[in-house]
Amino acid sequence: MQSQLKHVISADQFLDRTLLDKLFSLAQEMEAHDTNGKYRTALAGKILATVFYEPSTRTRFSFEAGMMKLGGEVLTTESAAQFSSAIKGESIEDSIRIIGGYADAIVLRHPQTGAAKIAAKVSPVPVINAGDGSGEHPTQALLDLYTISKEKKSLDGLHIAMVGDLLYGRTVHSLLKFLPLYKKITLYLVAPAKLQLPQIYLEYLKKHKISFQQLSDFKSILPKLDVLYMTRVQKERFADPNEYEQVKNLYVIDEKNIKAMKKSAMIMHPLPRVTELSPKIDNDPRAWYFRQAQNGLYVRMALLYTLLCR
Ligand code: NCD
Repeated sequence: MQSQLKHVISADQFLDRTLLDKLFSLAQEMEAHDTNGKYRTALAGKILATVFYEPSTRTRFSFEAGMMKLGGEVLTTESAAQFSSAIKGESIEDSIRIIGGYADAIVLRHPQTGAAKIAAKVSPVPVINAGDGSGEHPTQALLDLYTISKEKKSLDGLHIAMVGDLLYGRTVHSLLKFLPLYKKITLYLVAPAKLQLPQIYLEYLKKHKISFQQLSDFKSILPKLDVLYMTRVQKERFADPNEYEQVKNLYVIDEKNIKAMKKSAMIMHPLPRVTELSPKIDNDPRAWYFRQAQNGLYVRMALLYTLLCR
């Protein structure tokens, strides 16, 4: 597995069951040994730089906590746009070249689609894409897939809805790339017309013969779903605040409409949530989003171990 991965830029790189199985069993191993110290010095002497030009809670902290739990150390800038030399006009390429001379791997979040790919071209060390604008967020998709596969064993035959901001939601873009690995999935793409999935991803689904429907409401499909993947409308990507206002509260799961869902359904969300999930459903066994975020720690530990333990 180690030789196959240098940079982590797109979910495309993980379209390989053997690779995923190895990564996920390592994540399970990380979880099982979280408190007993088996991996406590695995990455001793290594340094991870987390370079975030956009806000983050889960992604940055789980990478940093994961690195520390493996015995490594962390260099971080959480507002790289203001606190790094970007404000003085330094290019992303120059910043990455320099940071790559100090750290053994770089986790990068940047508002520009394609930024991680640009960084990887000049970086002497592995670059991990932690979100490139409305492009991709591959490590989030890995933890999403890990969470579903742990609970459901396989995604074969599942009815899955992706709901909310399918236009700008990078977690959706990465997650759907995994679907060709499974058989007979039915996918529902629920969004207002203006936030529907970009053509390039629709083409991808068609090319891989994934059966999908585009809908503007989710009421009729709630009883059919095995996985409901909710997303936040990405306010920061809207040029016109009025357009955001029109679409911000369209899909909400609350204690009333959750009743229409199967007992075995999984409600997921990459978080942060705004209004899409009522806190009143948090204690329902179908609410998976906090366990999903916790899994992010173990999947990212597995990834760091794979990239850096050589
Ligand atoms: C997501 C992101 O940054 O794309 N957050 C995350 O990493 N869990 C989702 C979002 O911001 O809505």
